[in-house]
Amino acid sequence: MDKFIDMRGRYVSPGVYLIHPITVTHGVNELLYDVEGREYLDFTSGIGVTNLGHSNRELVQAALDQLGKLWHISIHVANYPAYVTLASMLVERVKLSGPAMTAFFNSGAEATENAVKVSRRASGRPYVVSFIGGFHGRTTLALSLTGKYKPYKVGFEPLAPSIVKAPYPYCYRLRLEEDDCLNMVMSSLELLVDVDLDPSVVASIMVEPIQGEGGFVVPPKGFLRELESFARRRDILLIVDEIQTGYCRTGKFMAYEHYGISPDIVTLGKAMANGLPISGIVGVESVMKKMDSGSIGGTFGGNPVSAAVAVKVIEVIERDNLCMRAESLGKLLSDRLSDLEKKYDFIGDVRGLGVMKAVELVKDKHTREPDKGKAKRIVEEARRRGLLLLTAGYYGNVVRLHPPLTISEENLARGLDILAESVKSIA
Ligand SMILES: Cc1ncc(COP(=O)(O)O)c(C=O)c1O
Repeated sequence: MDKFIDMRGRYVSPGVYLIHPITVTHGVNELLYDVEGREYLDFTSGIGVTNLGHSNRELVQAALDQLGKLWHISIHVANYPAYVTLASMLVERVKLSGPAMTAFFNSGAEATENAVKVSRRASGRPYVVSFIGGFHGRTTLALSLTGKYKPYKVGFEPLAPSIVKAPYPYCYRLRLEEDDCLNMVMSSLELLVDVDLDPSVVASIMVEPIQGEGGFVVPPKGFLRELESFARRRDILLIVDEIQTGYCRTGKFMAYEHYGISPDIVTLGKAMANGLPISGIVGVESVMKKMDSGSIGGTFGGNPVSAAVAVKVIEVIERDNLCMRAESLGKLLSDRLSDLEKKYDFIGDVRGLGVMKAVELVKDKHTREPDKGKAKRIVEEARRRGLLLLTAGYYGNVVRLHPPLTISEENLARGLDILAESVKSIA
């Protein structure tokens, strides 16, 4: 083990989890290098963040240009071009139910918190509905919206009040065909909102268009549309969390575009500045304009360097047609993963959109009993062979792949070869 891993054990709380016991020093696009000079293919993208690869030269230049001019003033003290340029670009591209406005923060959890605050202040209602198995962050309000107890909530109660959970249409695990699955979920939501609560006290519904940490759970096609009309009929705001799914990861700039809906608020984070800290919300003007001056934001939110890089990220994505590229790379991924599914009884499901794909490990296809141990072993075997992967899922039994959108086809294929060998080695 390298000395930095020893230092981590000694000086860093184990609460900050570590999947891969390696110390990396630098990266080039889809490749990472550790202190011992080993090379890895990075199919984690730093948890779905470095969509344009590591040390992307254009982004480095955009950061350097801004660093040399101004790296902090706080948007509350004075205005600066990068912040408002980014705001205008997002308002043009993230289409909502009406004209939109933005606000920027530092992390996904902060975007979650602010989306909830905004929905409560604008509606004057307290309750928020989120989904079982969803993930929205680790700060107390975001954690309260997160729909998984272990490890996130253990010992951290009491959490925030006035948050309720509905089941997500995870049809594979619910063992239902798509239509029945959708009906079951919508009926549960109706009982929750109309009976257990009353629509007049519900400010918003927060939903991931594909559950990320939940294991890349893709809902049935009609789900988001039904959810949208459910919310509209009750005057409830629809918040779509695009923190993990946004920025072309699924083949569209925003994943909700696959489903033809118009949210009221969208939360953004992760890939916005390819890893420099920034997050944001885009919300309809009618809601965003109701905020009292000074009630949202923060010292660092939308800092000039992150904002300048975030502007460049959008320019590069559009110039290089990276949404389309995500879709075509996604097809390569699907084909290879489906081959594995056919071959092994312990691969229960293969799913995802674009370059956001996962395999669910089970004891066998019939019982569908989750097999967390197998997922962990595949990730370890892959690392030994030079491929970095992540797990996810309600039961930790999902292996997820989210390489950068800029990965070469050769390296995508090489990574998939390594995955196949790793799966074979544990069979
Ligand atoms: C969908 C979603 N929302 C919110 C968050 C929280 O983001 P952060 O870790 O930047 O606070 C995450 C992080 O994984 C996420 O996937």
